[in-house]
Amino acid sequence: MNDRTPAPATPAAAPPLLSVEHLTVRYQLGRGLTGRPTLLTAVRDVSFTIGAGRTLGLVGESGSGKSSIGRAILRLAPVSEGRIVFDGQDTAAFGRRTPPSFNRDVQVVFQDPLSSLNPRQTIAVTLGQALTRHRRLTAVERNREIAGSLDRVGLSGYHAQRYPHELSGGQRQRVAIARALATRPRLIVCDEPVSALDVSTQSQVINLLKELQRDLGVSYLFIAHDLEVVRHMSDEIGVLYLGRLAESGPAEQVYRTPTHPYTQTLLASTLLADPERQRARSARRRELATDAELPSPLAPPPGCAFHPRCPRADDLCRTEQPELLQLTGTASLAACHHAEPVRVAAP
Ligand SMILES: Nc1ncnc2c1ncn2[C@@H]1O[C@H](COP(=O)(O)OP(=O)(O)O)[C@@H](O)[C@H]1O
Ligand SMILES: [Mg+2]
Repeated sequence: MNDRTPAPATPAAAPPLLSVEHLTVRYQLGRGLTGRPTLLTAVRDVSFTIGAGRTLGLVGESGSGKSSIGRAILRLAPVSEGRIVFDGQDTAAFGRRTPPSFNRDVQVVFQDPLSSLNPRQTIAVTLGQALTRHRRLTAVERNREIAGSLDRVGLSGYHAQRYPHELSGGQRQRVAIARALATRPRLIVCDEPVSALDVSTQSQVINLLKELQRDLGVSYLFIAHDLEVVRHMSDEIGVLYLGRLAESGPAEQVYRTPTHPYTQTLLASTLLADPERQRARSARRRELATDAELPSPLAPPPGCAFHPRCPRADDLCRTEQPELLQLTGTASLAACHHAEPVRVAAP
């Protein structure tokens, strides 16, 4: 039946650079009294694609499984079910030995560069190592490339001789970006790269990433817990709730006509000009922020996982898990029994 096979998030003509298909990530926790291992399902049946030179913004609360998806792509978290296809190749075929070409092609920028940059090395040494990991360079070439990569991210020779703690948060993140670019990657997993920065630095770093994408054609999986952060960055949006996609689709569409109540709640404060409805939505947003927490993935609510926090929940929502389906007249998918506009089965 059609509605058992969710469509990919981006119906692209060219084969995508990255295709995540029905990804499930489970972690084995300790053994309980029974001696059987407890399994935590952090990501459940998530599918999306990212085209060359495109950005997917992946949004969700802390604990919703964002990093697990990023780490599964980077081969740092288990792919328990489904598959991850990069440039036409199923990464499961790599087995234990990740090919050097994949390590070059797929890079990462984490939230906290202080913990990912070696504190005892100058920036020049860190970048030099990244540049020569996959390429042979003479000392002269290496120095030239270090200068070039700093310049590209808006830093100078002055920063080359500094240690990470001597730089600002924004400057450190620029170094982390330069390091990721050193292997000339085709995809960068950006795991909350601006979450620790103040708002003006956030937009500077985002603008830099956009500029680099324009110049280099690199693709991003851009993870954030806030829809606003990825707004001007993303071609496509995926909204995660407790390990599942609640909604996905072209960014413009998701922001203009969010269909899942969770997405609507996340966008509530900026969504409507009508002050009356705006007030109602803000109240709902506050409720979400302060009231119920994200349920534990060890004990997900039955039916739709969002139902305990959802203003539209009814008996159906409490008992039946909604499928992620395409909506009529839109390119968006939503997993909601009450999604508007009217739902149709995914093609
Ligand atoms: N290595 C791990 N072992 C066990 N549980 C984990 C591990 N990593 C993450 N989790 C759990 O998986 C869920 C999703 O975590 P994560 O992917 O980090 O979410 P997010 O990045 O959205 O905050 C959380 O409940 C988290 O506690
Ligand atoms: Mg995370």
